[in-house]
Amino acid sequence: MSLKQDGAAAQAPAPAGDSPAARADWLRAELERHNYQYYVLDAPSVPDAEYDALFRELQDIEAAHPDLLTPESPTQRVGGQPLSAFDTVRHAMPMLSLNNGFEDDDVLSFDRRCAQGLGRAAPAAEGTADLFSAAEAVEYACELKFDGLAMSLRYEGGRLVQAATRGDGETGEDVTANVRTIKAIPLRLRGDAAALPAVLEVRGEVFMYRRDFDKLNARQAEAEEKTFVNPRNAAAGSLRQLDPRITAKRPLSFFAYGLGELQGAARPGTHSAMLDWFAGLGMPVCAEREVVRGAQGLLDFYRAVGERRAALPYDIDGVVYKVNALAEQERLGFVSRAPRFALAHKFPAQEMTTVVEDIEVQVGRTGAITPVARLAPVFVGGVTVTNATLHNEDEVRRKDVHIGDTVIVRRAGDVIPEVVAVVLERRPADARAFVMPTACPVCGSHIEKLEGEVIARCTGGLICAAQRKQALLHFAQRRAMDIEGLGDKVVEQLVDQGIVHTPADLYKLGVAKLAALERMADKSATNLVAAIEASRATTLNRFVFALGIRHVGEATAKDLARHFGKLDGLMAADEAALLEVNDVGPVVAQSIANFLAEPHNVEVIEQLRAAGVHWQESEPAARAAPAPLAGKTFVLTGTLPTLAREDAKERLEAAGAKVAGSVSKKTDYVVAGAEAGSKLDKAEALGVPVIDEAAMLALLAEAQTGDQS
Ligand code: IVH
Repeated sequence: MSLKQDGAAAQAPAPAGDSPAARADWLRAELERHNYQYYVLDAPSVPDAEYDALFRELQDIEAAHPDLLTPESPTQRVGGQPLSAFDTVRHAMPMLSLNNGFEDDDVLSFDRRCAQGLGRAAPAAEGTADLFSAAEAVEYACELKFDGLAMSLRYEGGRLVQAATRGDGETGEDVTANVRTIKAIPLRLRGDAAALPAVLEVRGEVFMYRRDFDKLNARQAEAEEKTFVNPRNAAAGSLRQLDPRITAKRPLSFFAYGLGELQGAARPGTHSAMLDWFAGLGMPVCAEREVVRGAQGLLDFYRAVGERRAALPYDIDGVVYKVNALAEQERLGFVSRAPRFALAHKFPAQEMTTVVEDIEVQVGRTGAITPVARLAPVFVGGVTVTNATLHNEDEVRRKDVHIGDTVIVRRAGDVIPEVVAVVLERRPADARAFVMPTACPVCGSHIEKLEGEVIARCTGGLICAAQRKQALLHFAQRRAMDIEGLGDKVVEQLVDQGIVHTPADLYKLGVAKLAALERMADKSATNLVAAIEASRATTLNRFVFALGIRHVGEATAKDLARHFGKLDGLMAADEAALLEVNDVGPVVAQSIANFLAEPHNVEVIEQLRAAGVHWQESEPAARAAPAPLAGKTFVLTGTLPTLAREDAKERLEAAGAKVAGSVSKKTDYVVAGAEAGSKLDKAEALGVPVIDEAAMLALLAEAQTGDQS
């Protein structure tokens, strides 16, 4: 697949004379060139501001000289007066549809029919892709089947005079005013006017890029207007507007794929050459196309596109094969409403409707509670889907999904299936609204939803089976209980084999049990038991961090340990008492209170203590002698003689000081080591006291608050 379209015309020199007519002509050509670069080639040529300036200049000239205004002027893309209805248009040549194929066999039969219809040699063997020898194989143009709306664009003398929808194939609706607002569609064809065909009907698809669709939907939601289910519906809805000014605001695009009436120019010999010709005339033509031979070539193209489908920036629902030589197309002709020379090879549908039989909740590894729709089985995106995520409670309300509803389900690529929208007309009288449970379906713990958060969570962090692996890994990590050797693989087995349920169970593990695990030798089992053993002696802040309370990171755990000094003090604290802790706000306080209100969690904490996990307790900070360094701000700079920067910081913080990154008037001390740089200069300039490591250690010795870490 290659990009077939390149080389925009170079900028024409600005006219020498200053006649408004000449200037307007030049501006129009410039703006068209930039439009083409931007919307057709996807390669912007000027900054927006420059484009806007040219645009305004042209608007001003046209306002001052209305006689100079042309319907093809780029200024006319903003949309004209609203219509009361669309006129009906009879197509000069009917707009046909395509026969569909789904299986490889359909493709083999299509190829066989084409080859036989063209009088090629008899098939070598039935049911294989190599029916014909290379020389006899039919040549095909392969392209994408865009998921949008078919459109016929009529150019006369190179000017867009009419745009019509397919309608019933014989007559469609005149949507010229709307289509004029689509910037990818040229209002004038490119090239030498004398060489342009007298009449050219280009057929193709109006569609919307996914990124544009997302932006449009976000904008619609923001304005509390209706959002669209998918890019196709958005494109259709935008084209059917009677007010072209609305269409002008919708980011529609276009790809050309076929020819209608042609007068005053010779038809190219092949479909692929025709698309190249269209591209040269300034029409957007998709670069994802290829010329192949025989059924195997078709199937290869189908597979290659199938693999990239999810990554394409627009929706497609299949690929289209067309016999490449137009003379051969003519010989093959049509059956009823579809050509014999073309086939749409469809991909499995990515959207289907089905019924929501129930809405249940699932608990994730981090305790996140996700509502999941249980669906009547439906084949979508190539697999049978029975569940679709509803993400969170707000999403269920926003999409208004009830149990019993018929919904549109989407599964694109490997993405988890999701409910796109409810088909409200099909809501049964006994449909039931979803009620968020208050208890975790896995462990029965309370479900919390902290203020300002969208996700509800199970509070049984230490005992919930759904969260076990995560909780154990968190508990064992270096910065928590520091149990070396208790990694992913071991935790996985310990939990899956039902050996460990809570962190307290770790302290019951013996070498024999561990050595029986996969990929665990006696030596590593012995080491792990030793590491577990060693972890019994810890610090209160490590222990608090290890519990995995939501929003309690290392820093908060330290604050809590320093503030309460003893675990019992922390466990007895209510939200009000927690709010007194340095840097603990309402969300954190609520999260800690919820965790400790869960009897199962308390039980595990007790089991851990009973298993011998211990630390040095200290006096609560409030009642301890006030730390002399509390409220003092330090800045560290340069290399200290004995302490690493992190160690120095930790010691200062443990003594209640704050360690800042830059020097200001509020800095109390700058601790300077070797090769101190600009911070030292600044301290001197501001008159902030500068001390060395020894002086800092002396201050710390005075502080004597007991290092928690
Ligand atoms: S060719 C004579 N090529 O598919 C053949 N159609 O059922 C006329 N479509 O409504 C159609 N991508 O809108 C052709 N590359 C493509 C297409 C394509 C999408 C749509 C078209 C039409 C339907 C045909």
